[in-house]
Amino acid sequence: MSGVVEPRVRVLLDPDWASGSLVDDVRRGLGGRPRRLPPKWLYDPVGADLFDEITRLPEYYPTEAERAILTAHAAEIAQACDASTLVELGSGTSDKTRTLLDAFRSPERPHGPLARFVPVDVSDGTLRDAASMLSVRYPGMAVEAVVGDFTLHLGQLPRGDRRMVAFLGSTIGNFYLEERAAFLGALADSLDSGEWLLLGTDLVKGADRLVAAYDDAAGVTERFIRNCLLVVNRELGADFDPGAFSYVPFWDPRMERIDMRLRAEEPQTVTVPGADLVVELATGEEICVEISTKFRREGIAAELGEAGFTVERTWTDDAGDFALTLARRD
Ligand code: SAH
Ligand code: TRP
Repeated sequence: MSGVVEPRVRVLLDPDWASGSLVDDVRRGLGGRPRRLPPKWLYDPVGADLFDEITRLPEYYPTEAERAILTAHAAEIAQACDASTLVELGSGTSDKTRTLLDAFRSPERPHGPLARFVPVDVSDGTLRDAASMLSVRYPGMAVEAVVGDFTLHLGQLPRGDRRMVAFLGSTIGNFYLEERAAFLGALADSLDSGEWLLLGTDLVKGADRLVAAYDDAAGVTERFIRNCLLVVNRELGADFDPGAFSYVPFWDPRMERIDMRLRAEEPQTVTVPGADLVVELATGEEICVEISTKFRREGIAAELGEAGFTVERTWTDDAGDFALTLARRD
């Protein structure tokens, strides 16, 4: 096709990353207590497809709530922000982001059309597919995809012009509290004064809807969570029997987060040769796979302020389920 510039794809994860970094995470996470696996291991090709299915489940309201906010306010955001590069962290399929890109590419935008889009994700295949699709859809806009880890590679993002970083889908809620503060601090460090952050956060609401969103009737979320055991089996030669675990999602009202765990239903010895590890699990013992923290407006502003950002605007959907916050690096 003429006029279409192929996307550039920069790979910051070393090819050995899947085994190298997984070994460290598994030794630390499964070897210690509470037993944990970090969430980035959920997004192998199977997990990425399951996540995509989650976003279309009737119980999983956050995707459509965030999309509604973007549809209503993208033009306003594009006009308010003088960014010429949009960086998206944990971009996945960048499906909702198209609403934002349409507004940033509008000929009516006072700052001129967005020049560059930089999607960043650990999920190589999903990222490449999205980058190709976007470079066809937006000829004239440079697409510079980065296969990278947003907990490691923020300092290596392209710079040189005014940027906006979008972090959507409430992915920030998947960090533990101390990791979240470290992430926001590192993000602030990687930005220049005056650069922008657009942050999507799911809000605290009744426990019933929250639990249903992470324990859907079709069992897709359960398959997504269980898949992390298969990743460890494949990458590190482990012998987890996923059928020997039950999926236990619950709302933790004190921490205001959904906690997603796998519970051993029988005593078991799991061997992980690639990490030189043997894990003995008693009946009832749990592996913490993922959390999804829910936010309040005051809390978001306070945490952003602490990290070195000032909130400019916050929008919610009509039901008040989800918030999109526009902030600026001080
Ligand atoms: N932004 C999309 C996808 C959210 S799912 C949406 O709003 O629907 C979270 C995405 O972050 C996945 O695509 C996953 O591969 C990616 N991800 C998870 N941990 C990551 C990490 N440490 N570094 C980069 N990407 C990560
Ligand atoms: N950021 C999303 C969220 O917290 C990720 C997510 C959606 C997720 N569904 C999940 C993570 C199920 C683990 C399990 O909502």
